[in-house]
Amino acid sequence: MTRQFPAPLLGVNIDHVATIRQARGTFYPSVLEAASVAEAHGADLITVHLREDRRHIQDRDVSALVEQSRTRLNLEMAMTDSMLDFALSHRPEDVCLVPERRMELTTEGGLDVAGRRAEVTRFCKALDAAGIRVSLFVDPEPEQIEAAGECGAPVIEIHTGAYANAEDKSRSQAELERIAEAAALAGAGGLVVNAGHGLHYENIFDVVALDLIREFNIGHSIIARAIFTGLGAAVAEMKRCLVAGAGNEA
Ligand code: PXP
Repeated sequence: MTRQFPAPLLGVNIDHVATIRQARGTFYPSVLEAASVAEAHGADLITVHLREDRRHIQDRDVSALVEQSRTRLNLEMAMTDSMLDFALSHRPEDVCLVPERRMELTTEGGLDVAGRRAEVTRFCKALDAAGIRVSLFVDPEPEQIEAAGECGAPVIEIHTGAYANAEDKSRSQAELERIAEAAALAGAGGLVVNAGHGLHYENIFDVVALDLIREFNIGHSIIARAIFTGLGAAVAEMKRCLVAGAGNEA
């Protein structure tokens, strides 16, 4: 059978490159370099979340990425007027509206589109008028999917956190079915369907196999994997510095 999406698109979320930088207030690791490496290795777009508390990505990162990314920038942001002004003045290609709670470790649930229709519609209109493609980050619930279409969003991103965090096989299967039903409903309503949150090198296969999702936004697992795919080379390089420095003794 021919797949609808032979190769879904990969959005690489580089927030946690900035998390490491902010932990020390250093200039490294560079998020621009991270974007460039990701793009050179198959990322179809770069995703960042500019949080209200600026815990990782900073305003200047978004400005630089808008200028220099070679693919597309997808800016995740809370639905506040200051973030709307920021998006309208920086013009990333995509904006994904997400709920935000200050104390949360990461985005814990989807946006309550059904409960905030007027506000969501206003944000969708303003961003669309500026040529920015809007996506709404929603839980896989029919009520939220239908509301997303009614608010004028062309894209939804399904929150895959409940699937990713499921504690056993039957729970994860049930969550996968919820995702499949929500994605099918959204697709039937003409929405582009993306997905993300908590996806890693083991749980990704079943979601891709649904053949209902256009784009996956994945961050934490990729940056975590990079530690081990890159740690050996990083240690060897520092060892070479020690050896070279010892050879240069005054
Ligand atoms: N999509 C959205 C809307 C998110 O908020 C996040 C987390 O910032 C992700 C995708 C990526 O999630 P993870 O880092 O768990 O892969």
